[in-house]
Amino acid sequence: MWIKKNHRWALSENEATPESVYKERRDILKKLGIAVVGVPLAANSQAGVLDLFSSKEEPAQDRRIDLSASKPDKYQADLSLTPEDKVLKYNNFYEFGTGKSDPAEKSGGFVSDPWSVKVDGLVGNPITLNYEDIFNKFTLEERIYRLRCVEAWSMNIPWIGFPLSDIIKMANPKSEAKYVAFETLYDPEQFPGQNSWGGSIDYPYVEGLRLDEAMNPLTLISVGLYGKTLAPQNGAPLRLVVPWKYGFKSIKSIVRIRLTDQEPPTTWNRLAPHEYGFYANVNPQVDHPRWSQASERFIGEGNLFSSRRQPTLMFNGYEEEVAHLYKNMDLRKFY
Ligand code: MTE
Repeated sequence: MWIKKNHRWALSENEATPESVYKERRDILKKLGIAVVGVPLAANSQAGVLDLFSSKEEPAQDRRIDLSASKPDKYQADLSLTPEDKVLKYNNFYEFGTGKSDPAEKSGGFVSDPWSVKVDGLVGNPITLNYEDIFNKFTLEERIYRLRCVEAWSMNIPWIGFPLSDIIKMANPKSEAKYVAFETLYDPEQFPGQNSWGGSIDYPYVEGLRLDEAMNPLTLISVGLYGKTLAPQNGAPLRLVVPWKYGFKSIKSIVRIRLTDQEPPTTWNRLAPHEYGFYANVNPQVDHPRWSQASERFIGEGNLFSSRRQPTLMFNGYEEEVAHLYKNMDLRKFY
């Protein structure tokens, strides 16, 4: 097992987890060849939440595959993680509908296996990965990251995945490559929202990063969370996780990763450029034109009556790891 001790976000998990839980989990993950890397959690992240999970409709059947062979309750509440059922039921995935419960309720028939993701553009070695490849060709790690949505709510999620840089290196980028463009599956039969948005979102959903952002060790391709493969509503079978940026950068159900020399178009920027920038770095000092970004509602344990706001952190708490990427940039201009 490889633990990158030199990074703050890669503290050994026994620094954050009760020892018995840590040992049980480590043994199981070791058997599966999964490295475990934890992130210290915000001390004030134990807040409550509005009860937004009371939908009457039953969620789709759980078809996730166990990646850890251990009990879901191995994640102790004292880690301040967002409970698994909330990560599974409170989602933004407009391809399934605009309601927070739509993705869980409308994704029952979604087929994520077989899958194919192409890595092409300005690369010396274009590749196509299938469903098995994304689980077998890379060393999977667990990373506990904060997720901060531009809508001013947040979660702490134990992702499973591997650095995006592993895929990019495999494709051997050319020296002209300066950006990475991502694309979600386009399939209106599976994604009812791709038919019914009224033409505002020009699907497929697309996103992009600068190449140095994409190569940063924090940038993750996630294939699972809470010890299991991703549910469709969380972006099965693979999605991006960029923890220092607003959640809309973390594009789901990716079918194409393209290296390019031009800044690629991005879905929310195309839709409302004055509200959503290409960079979308979490920044409590730069408000959204319609609301403050200074604080956030943490979705944790609790219900309507115990909700609490917490201050939003610069770069979502990852300033040490990523501030250098934006040195000398005006973050009000490049929001
Ligand atoms: N990816 C696609 N393809 N479509 C989407 O609507 N929503 C984004 C992002 N990725 C979205 C997407 C937004 S706004 C957020 S906050 C996160 O996914 C939410 O991820 P989660 O539902 O797994 O918490």
